[in-house]
Amino acid sequence: MTDLVLKSALLPDGRVADISIAGGVITHIGSSGSSEKTIDCRGCLCVPAAIDMHVHMRDGPQSAKEDWVTGTQSAVAGGVAAVVDQPNTVPAMDSAANFSARVAHAHETSFCHFAINGSVTETADLTGLWEAGALAFGEMFAAPSSYGSALSPETIRSALAVLGNAGALTTVHAEEVRPGEVHNLAEHAASRPVSGEAATVDLVNSLVPATARLHYCHMSGAASIARVMMRPGNSYEVAPHHLFLSWEEQSPSDTHFRMNPPLRTKTERMELWRMFESIPAIASDHAPHTTLEKTQPFSTAPSGVPGVETMMPLLMNAVFEGKISLDAVVAKTVTNPYHILGLVAPKIAVGSRADIAVYSRQPETILAEHLHSRCGWTPYEGMAGVFPLTTVVGGAPVWHNGEFSRDEPLWFAGKGKSFTAP
Ligand code: DOR
Repeated sequence: MTDLVLKSALLPDGRVADISIAGGVITHIGSSGSSEKTIDCRGCLCVPAAIDMHVHMRDGPQSAKEDWVTGTQSAVAGGVAAVVDQPNTVPAMDSAANFSARVAHAHETSFCHFAINGSVTETADLTGLWEAGALAFGEMFAAPSSYGSALSPETIRSALAVLGNAGALTTVHAEEVRPGEVHNLAEHAASRPVSGEAATVDLVNSLVPATARLHYCHMSGAASIARVMMRPGNSYEVAPHHLFLSWEEQSPSDTHFRMNPPLRTKTERMELWRMFESIPAIASDHAPHTTLEKTQPFSTAPSGVPGVETMMPLLMNAVFEGKISLDAVVAKTVTNPYHILGLVAPKIAVGSRADIAVYSRQPETILAEHLHSRCGWTPYEGMAGVFPLTTVVGGAPVWHNGEFSRDEPLWFAGKGKSFTAP
């Protein structure tokens, strides 16, 4: 018996067909028989649902900003079926015990598949975290940011030696911070320039053993991307805010546009669009902070913006406007990030895990009041987005017509996970 049919769906290759799903897997694409549940997808585009490989789900003492329930509801309402949680949590993901407790909690509360990265600090138990199932390591802070202190080159070198030896992927937050207080977006951008990002990429590239794999997070400038690509095998991601927002277009000291790396000028942003085809991965760096925290003076307000729910809508809107191709979006938000992480990506194909997002072609105005992150605001307020009507996670319509229904998510453990025989 089929569990779910997505009826008369428009597929990425232009065909219209019914997608039959059973046991969490696509079992047939063509015409369907009877099913427990049928969703009418006439006129809607069905694409493999995204993985967001850079989110901060917070939770615990930081639950006023976000927790696993609100963060992953926000993900699925934005067409994201899997998230990779960053380790600058409270408590930090620096021990196997902290890590396993977070996995257990996410297992009980997450609305989408998830993975958790291990922390890289002077004292983190890298081997213990790898064996406990960390998918990757980092973001490793080569510069200070919210809830992350900068590591010394010596710590980076010795951590990369251990992680390279284990075969683990290390993800890097590369920046350089000029001293002094910042009072507005322009000063913030100048204090963490693209030249410093590029210099830090060079530094980390020089500290890594030849066999270790590096992925650079949220690259904000074409010059630093060029340096990433100088080391064979490196990969990187770009965040939607560096593609869709620039600092000169915002009110000068609006803390809601403060994040690390900072927003750049429109000219620098357009350079990222010119090289869009070559960008391997897009990830949101979903980093929610409360409105109260963001109403502090600019100099003390925390850096970070929510984005997991708006990443796909912004990109799909650009697809429907004819500015970018659907193939490029699927490559950067599904195929490539899964590949970088060493995981199997879902496809619209028989035998694939059924992680599917169903999009109408109807743009909506992005409004914080319609979004689901606990932080309650978005830097994209008033912009256009195409949101999914349905997001199927492991065969279950976890988001459908404005409602959530939780199913058992998958935990993507890393390759170091040691299994004990029963
Ligand atoms: O803006 C940022 N916020 N950049 C980071 O690297 C960390 C993040 C956070 O956790 O708030």
